[in-house]
Amino acid sequence: ARKFFVGGNWKCNGTAEEVKKIVNTLNEAQVPSQDVVEVVVSPPYVFLPLVKSTLRSDFYVAAQNCWVKKGGAFTGEVSAEMLVNLDIPWVILGHSERRALLNESNEFVGDKVAYALAQGLKVIACVGETLEQREAGSTMDVVAAQTKAIADRVSNWSNVVIAYEPVWAIGTGKVASPAQAQEVHDELRKWLAKNVSDDVAATTRIIYGGSVNGGNCKELGGQADVDGFLVGGASLKPEFIDIIKAAE
Ligand code: 13P
Repeated sequence: ARKFFVGGNWKCNGTAEEVKKIVNTLNEAQVPSQDVVEVVVSPPYVFLPLVKSTLRSDFYVAAQNCWVKKGGAFTGEVSAEMLVNLDIPWVILGHSERRALLNESNEFVGDKVAYALAQGLKVIACVGETLEQREAGSTMDVVAAQTKAIADRVSNWSNVVIAYEPVWAIGTGKVASPAQAQEVHDELRKWLAKNVSDDVAATTRIIYGGSVNGGNCKELGGQADVDGFLVGGASLKPEFIDIIKAAE
């Protein structure tokens, strides 16, 4: 069975004071046990040490990105080795905001995923189509190409979670319907079965992201192939606790 996974992507938000408040709220929350749900929050780099040192021990932290190879003369970047050095267990890679705004290609994201895994990080790898691509009927081609660039470079999938985040649903309040999410998750799982292995298809968690909130999480999370969420805006609010509880 695939353990439910709830990630909170804080994106480029928060002051130190706000971060402390969010951590306090999380620390006081009554949530299902670690056997039922894996909770990972992803603050901006600069707050990672603060969050890691103050967050309850049954929740984990993720960076929102890392460099594609060994650190060195790459001004402004943070390497996978540095995250490992600070005991940061997870990293989000290939978020659509980085793909779109920072021109990260499928191949570049695939290289990042492979490098981060090789350093011992666990990876939340994001895929998803734009509205234009969905309307053109190419959703599965887009998502398959993004996943293929990872599959071409990765052989051990045990530390990978795939986040399906349709770009049109991110930050828009236009959540995918449970049926729309289930359809893509099911097709992604079939893609993994055909192109990687039945075992990887059966065990890899595929989580949904894009306008998930306290009101829609239960029905989305009830879909057979939706193994959790990657939450943006609502992960900064107490509502995130309700989303964690959707695991039950
Ligand atoms: P929203 O939940 O704000 O739509 O963001 C989703 C997301 O991009 C998570 O990575």
